[in-house]
Amino acid sequence: MNAPSNMVKVAVVGGEGIGPEVTAQSHRILNWFAAKRGVPMTLREAEYGLVPYLATGKVLPDTTVEAMDEADAILWGATGGPETKEVPAAARKVGSLLSLRSKYDLYANLRPIAASQALVNSAPLKAEVLKGVDFVIIRELTSGIYFGEPRGIERLPDGQRRGFNTEQYTTNQIRRVARAAFELARTRRNKVCSVDKANVLETSVLWREEVIALHNEEFPDVELSHLYVDNAAMQIVREPRQFDVMVTGNIFGDILSDCAAMASGSLGMLPSASLGPVDRFGRRKALYEPVHGSAPDIAGRGIANPLGSILSVAMMLRMTMNQPEEADMLERAVDMALSAGARTADIAEPGAKKLSTVEMGDAVLNALEKVAGNKREHL
Ligand code: IPM
Ligand code: MG
Repeated sequence: MNAPSNMVKVAVVGGEGIGPEVTAQSHRILNWFAAKRGVPMTLREAEYGLVPYLATGKVLPDTTVEAMDEADAILWGATGGPETKEVPAAARKVGSLLSLRSKYDLYANLRPIAASQALVNSAPLKAEVLKGVDFVIIRELTSGIYFGEPRGIERLPDGQRRGFNTEQYTTNQIRRVARAAFELARTRRNKVCSVDKANVLETSVLWREEVIALHNEEFPDVELSHLYVDNAAMQIVREPRQFDVMVTGNIFGDILSDCAAMASGSLGMLPSASLGPVDRFGRRKALYEPVHGSAPDIAGRGIANPLGSILSVAMMLRMTMNQPEEADMLERAVDMALSAGARTADIAEPGAKKLSTVEMGDAVLNALEKVAGNKREHL
């Protein structure tokens, strides 16, 4: 079989809630990089959620499965919200976000946290706490209590009900995500903090032992520390700048990444990448999505912040498309737009003008034109 061409296939799936609105803006950004910068890509839009369910009986219709199966990168919007009530639970389970993570084995979920200087005044944490914050949470995404068996809700002999789930990790599952963390740290400030609950849970005892063993075997040059998850939550709001790369299991990573969002100003700003194993061509399937979720309270009003999704495109440019300079350019354009005062409602200081989702997309595209123009002049 021939090695694949450098044409990157992207499936664009807006999904539900604010997903389609924010994804429409990051889709424009991708189009811009294809048309104006010649980044080789094919884009295929596909539907997910209540809309295709009503038309086809499936939240994830066959055409979407096909688009996602053949894609190198999936740009995902959001899932969930009131729509979940209109689709029977069983139909929703087939093709849920969790089943997609599992299907494509997207085990390494990268959630970068960077505090934009332009946002420190509207952020819930103090400016001095936010200064210089720049770290990445790597969350294990395909195991742990989210997927462990047995699970369920049962009826006890005395008539009560009992819900139960299983937290579990194997050596390989721990090692591969820890390896991703050590490798990433080597490209940054060379520090990994592993988060667990080894004072209580066996899975965490194993987690810590395996992280330490891997560190000794392959990454002795990287600085390694450990925190219990409760302490980690406190440290993230107390002094987030101490962290470079934080690696943790599925549920701890879910909780800590929302907490860490406050160290970036707003949950609406946070991008993420979920990476699968490297194939024999050196490629890895990846799903890029904003961390914020479907935000049903503001869905359909055109006021959601598209920057989490747009910054997810920057991650895609860097990690799947191998275009680090274009990724930098996009991140600079977002900074420029913010520095010039562009604000959606979630990041607006009191009294500041609030842009719509589309206007924020416009602001980033305008800034991109400027950054690209400057770049040409400097050549
Ligand atoms: C996230 C979300 C998901 C998760 C939900 C939507 C299932 O909170 O990606 O952080 O818990 O993983
Ligand atoms: Mg979450």
